[in-house]
Amino acid sequence: MFILNKNNSIANQFLSEIRDINTHTDRLRFRKNLERLGEILAYEISKSLEYKESEIETPLQKTKLNTLKDLPILIGVLRAAVPFYQGFSNFFDHSDSGFIGAYRAEESTQEAINITLQYLATPDITNREVILIDPMLATGKSFVKSVENLLKNGIPKKIHIASVIAAPEGIKFINDNLDIPHTIWTCALDEKLNSKSYIVPGLGDAGDLAFGQK
Ligand code: URA
Repeated sequence: MFILNKNNSIANQFLSEIRDINTHTDRLRFRKNLERLGEILAYEISKSLEYKESEIETPLQKTKLNTLKDLPILIGVLRAAVPFYQGFSNFFDHSDSGFIGAYRAEESTQEAINITLQYLATPDITNREVILIDPMLATGKSFVKSVENLLKNGIPKKIHIASVIAAPEGIKFINDNLDIPHTIWTCALDEKLNSKSYIVPGLGDAGDLAFGQK
């Protein structure tokens, strides 16, 4: 498990802004900050990937440099992931991408969360490293449901679960229910879920803040 804001960095500035109710009228800034956090987390995940030595020719001479052995496949969970996904896509700009539409019924409680899957369009993920991107890791159920459906398209080498804010309950649920190799990456680990399974202190509804109420 990796937690970005354990050490102070500019990421904490972006995290503070996306949480602050006084900035929530500025949707463009909210989306931009999610994108920036996506870029930073993409960079952190990139340190865990495999590299190979490649020969590169500069205008002056040939030289050997490390380049990525395989590009990770990016999978965004619609709709809240879109701006956060964009940050990953900016850095892994040659990666193939897929999208999953997973959402929970509004009447859900912590005990009875219903995840509905509406859309799945992903490339073959067999033996690849996959970054599954959803900004709010609350109950963990949409991540697990997404992985279960992704596995219909092949068994990946590893899944990186990428979130902006995570709750301890969701992390436990994922670790208890995913039996394929995975690492959870988050920008911040919060206190808990409330009775409606929102993350506390959290930021509210990430999808609504980015795109407006459904
Ligand atoms: N999804 C959100 O957008 N916010 C939460 O707190 C939990 C899930």
